[in-house]
Amino acid sequence: MSSVLVISGSPSRTSKTERIGEHVAQRLATSGRTADHLRVRTLPADALLGADTRAPAIADAIGRVAEADGIVLATPTYKAAYSGLLKAFLDLLPQFGFAGKAVLPLATGGTISHVLAIDYALRPVVHSLGARHAVQSFFLLDKHISVVDGQLSVHPDSAEPLADVIEQFSKALDGVPHSTVLGRTA
Ligand SMILES: Cc1cc2nc3c(=O)[nH]c(=O)nc-3n(C[C@H](O)[C@H](O)[C@H](O)COP(=O)(O)O)c2cc1C
Repeated sequence: MSSVLVISGSPSRTSKTERIGEHVAQRLATSGRTADHLRVRTLPADALLGADTRAPAIADAIGRVAEADGIVLATPTYKAAYSGLLKAFLDLLPQFGFAGKAVLPLATGGTISHVLAIDYALRPVVHSLGARHAVQSFFLLDKHISVVDGQLSVHPDSAEPLADVIEQFSKALDGVPHSTVLGRTA
């Protein structure tokens, strides 16, 4: 049975990105996998910013990354890139900390003007960490995400494509070749 770790990188306590990360974890957990969620904002700030990888909470978080077969990186778009909070954590991982893993990059943002930030800013980091397979990235507009009475709601324009990328990631986790994932013949 494979395991997935969602890493969400918003500093906000009411983070929409975090809620999307929870949603993705729940969807992946239903198909016989374990899915865990690491909220970087909950790590001790001193240890995180001081790169103290021996601090128990940081060492535990790094260990959770090492044990996962798949990683979902969920970040808000900040200043046309991904969040500094997520970067602070990724910088603590070993050089090839994503080796052998499938990765799904997800971003939320306020404007589609920055939809490519996930590919020009985050994807190179994923590759530099040695990911086995980074599937198609996905960007959600923040106005498509709402939380009413604690319940997450995603606008249909985003809900369907999000379900598709979760499915694609699920197949990548199972080691299905990319061409098959996309429904093409090789
Ligand atoms: C400091 C800051 C910088 C932001 N910069 C951008 C940006 O450059 N491009 C964009 O599309 N949205 C930007 N946004 C909007 C957020 O990406 C968007 O609202 C996101 O969904 C917030 O996610 P969260 O609720 O998980 O924190 C910014 C928001 C903040 C607070």
